Amino acid sequence: MKSSINKMLVTCAFPYANGDIHLGHLLEQIQADIWVRYFRMKNRSVIFICSDDTHGTAIMLQAKKLQISPDQLIHDVQKKHEKDFLQFSIVHDNYSSTHSVTNKNFCIKIYNHLLKKNFIKEKKIIQLYDTHFKMFLSDRFIKGTCPQCKSKNQYGDNCDVCGSIYDATELLNATSELSHAPLKKKSSNHLFFKLSSFSNFLKKWVNSDVLQVSVFNKINEWLSGNLNSWNISRDKPYFGFLIPNYTDKFFYVWMDAPIGYISCFKELCDMNQDINFDDYWSINSKHELYHFIGKDIIYFHALFWPAILEGYGYRKPTKIFAHGYLTFKGLKLSKSKGSMITASKWLSCFDSDSLRYYFSSKLSDTIQDIEMNLYDYARKINSDIVNSIINLASRNASFLEKYFYNVLSNDIIITSTVYKKFINSSLDIEKLFENRKFSLVVQKIRYLSDLANKYITDKKPWILIKNVFNKQKVHKICSLGINLFRILIIFLKPIMPILASNVECFLNTSLVWKNIREPLMNHKINKFSCLYKRIKMSSIDDFLSQI
Ligand code: MSP
Ligand code: ZN
Repeated sequence: MKSSINKMLVTCAFPYANGDIHLGHLLEQIQADIWVRYFRMKNRSVIFICSDDTHGTAIMLQAKKLQISPDQLIHDVQKKHEKDFLQFSIVHDNYSSTHSVTNKNFCIKIYNHLLKKNFIKEKKIIQLYDTHFKMFLSDRFIKGTCPQCKSKNQYGDNCDVCGSIYDATELLNATSELSHAPLKKKSSNHLFFKLSSFSNFLKKWVNSDVLQVSVFNKINEWLSGNLNSWNISRDKPYFGFLIPNYTDKFFYVWMDAPIGYISCFKELCDMNQDINFDDYWSINSKHELYHFIGKDIIYFHALFWPAILEGYGYRKPTKIFAHGYLTFKGLKLSKSKGSMITASKWLSCFDSDSLRYYFSSKLSDTIQDIEMNLYDYARKINSDIVNSIINLASRNASFLEKYFYNVLSNDIIITSTVYKKFINSSLDIEKLFENRKFSLVVQKIRYLSDLANKYITDKKPWILIKNVFNKQKVHKICSLGINLFRILIIFLKPIMPILASNVECFLNTSLVWKNIREPLMNHKINKFSCLYKRIKMSSIDDFLSQI
């Protein structure tokens, strides 16, 4: 982390506008949202943005299938995506679309600049053409026999059986996944971004501590080989932005999508005069830019994107944070393969905070995959949140209500070991949040919660209260218990914002990071009511039977 006066701009990768938000998308968005909420609690200025990724063949075909225009499709999907995110307390300062006029203008401006600087070249290439649909096909719509091992039914880019990588035109008996007809080879002129012109820049940039170690190693491997030029154009029919001076060529979706980071931010500046665009994007910007992405799109973000920014003369990302896949029964959650649990399906059975907590208990700063196990999820919520953390509140609140009119003692035992341990943990927890080691944050919180419960169990207020001379002692013990609970929920607030907000009502106070060391004394709290419901194992069985 750089100097604390710098402002932060945080992004998540843009979900494609041809499908629902699923738990895989949520893993990334929740990771970023927690990080953002943490820094805001620490009074840092953070802007968090995202958009829908609206262009490309898949979206065009999806609209066709639904018999609506692509414009209609992306409009409807964006509304749904925005609603899904909000329901998981993922709050973006601007949620836009890569189809916006602002993005179109930026794309054209950046392209024209790259062209002028001689970073774009035109070249004729041969591709596979579907004569029935009258279109060139991308690799995922092509299947054929592997040129190496001769396995049938392999996609246009690589063979699942022998792992070889090839060009779609090398496939034997290539057929279209759309028309199921044999494909024809056809030539067409395309525009290429000369990535190799940025080879030296990229080598330096990736060495400037912008990537996680494992990502850095992979990128270095790529950088040590030949950097092929990158085809940034697609022939019509395509849903996207037309390239200037062409009537039949569009920008490839991966050209205009990252530029959407800039446009989405620009729109925010247009809405809010206090945010200055150049402060964030000019080459000498002091502010920080962070991208949260999945490991499948590292290539685009750690090579093409910084090269485009360098070519255009804009600042580069401060850091790129890649994460692994969320898997379910060992398979990546995705629209096309494996299993799917959509955001709305989840909410039909469970709440959002519990998912945020469960993901946190699994999230770290690495790109390891994360397996979703619903029984494990239910056990964790019941054990950590209900049995430990909420139990701490309820057992102390019951005494405070019964004997002390819900008013906390004016003498909090800040000299007790347990209280000191809580206070001293805050620095460690801050470091863990900063470094995205959320699973360790959760572990630490659980450990502290158990300590607090043990303190109450050892003090036995239910026995002490039987003797009227111990009343004050019980008041102090339970008031400390509630104060420990308060600190735990401050730590948890970035992860479970809804629970934290309910606890704010219960404790009749705002939960603020800088107040961790200031206990609530002589303070009236509200009557305790159920703050979290236990998850029934039978509801897990029900859920599993529905997906
Ligand atoms: N549209 C591109 C991103 C463009 S960014 C300028 C894209 N879209 S996506 O919908 O396929 O994925 C959006 C993000 O969600 C990506 O970072 C991707 O890695 C992430 N995930 C999608 N499925 C995922 C899992 N099953 N698990 C974890 N993350 C996943 O890529
Ligand atoms: Zn093969």
